[in-house]
Amino acid sequence: MSDKIPFQELTFDKFRELAQSEQLSRHEKVGFPNEYREGKEELIFADVLAKLRSLDGAGKTILEIGPGCSRLPMMLADVCKERGHELHFVDSLEMLAQLPEEECIRKWPGRYPDEVDTLFAQLSGKVDTIIAYSVIQYVFAEGNLWDFLDRTLSLLADGGEILFGDVPNTTMRKRFFSSAAGIRCHREYSGRDELPEVRFNQLEPGLMDDSVVLAILARARAQGFHAWVVPQGEGLPMANRREDILIRKP
Ligand SMILES: C[S@@+](CC[C@H](N)C(=O)[O-])C[C@H]1O[C@@H](n2cnc3c(N)ncnc32)[C@H](O)[C@@H]1O
Repeated sequence: MSDKIPFQELTFDKFRELAQSEQLSRHEKVGFPNEYREGKEELIFADVLAKLRSLDGAGKTILEIGPGCSRLPMMLADVCKERGHELHFVDSLEMLAQLPEEECIRKWPGRYPDEVDTLFAQLSGKVDTIIAYSVIQYVFAEGNLWDFLDRTLSLLADGGEILFGDVPNTTMRKRFFSSAAGIRCHREYSGRDELPEVRFNQLEPGLMDDSVVLAILARARAQGFHAWVVPQGEGLPMANRREDILIRKP
């Protein structure tokens, strides 16, 4: 694993610095060691597409929160171009500067949701698809996840969908590494005949767990939206400890 970045300590501001680095790969700029993402972007994008029926059709309004600067947002831009969708990206100015200018793309620089009031004024109730892939863990750790959720729900058009993808869930991770498959996986990865470290009943500030994932579903459902936890596709790099949340406005 690369030692260039403290992957555990990433924040919105830290990502701004990473985005400007000339030493880092596109994977590292968005906080992933190369081996987690290299050659996997097509698989990840196919998994995202398969989950979102609201991307079908033509002339839709799409928003990606925290697109970063890997190839994933450009794959989304290609689909939007093909289908005549309007695509909105919101991320830091530094991250957005890494993405090309395209006619179908509108960039909103700033920290979502606090720094993009005009986006809310223009798009409330009008967005068909919202994607935040590998993003809400940072909002959980340094922002207000409930405000983020409620305000994101307020953007959806009828039938619209939100995918909070690639959500790291520390209790899911513990379940996996306590299982025979998880122990085997750890031994193959580390090359050592040892058990993975799994600790229960301890404080874990800043880490999302089952209680948070399930509370997101409960809150969305209580406010009139369907919401599900869905597994990641088998071949995805962190499918054994991350999952996706799909929300749909009926
Ligand atoms: C782990 S990267 C994921 C990037 C991309 N979605 C992907 O999966 O390749 C997290 C991204 O979310 C952005 N981000 C984090 N908090 C954000 C916020 N509150 N508003 C907008 N973007 C945010 C970061 O700048 C970064 O680009």
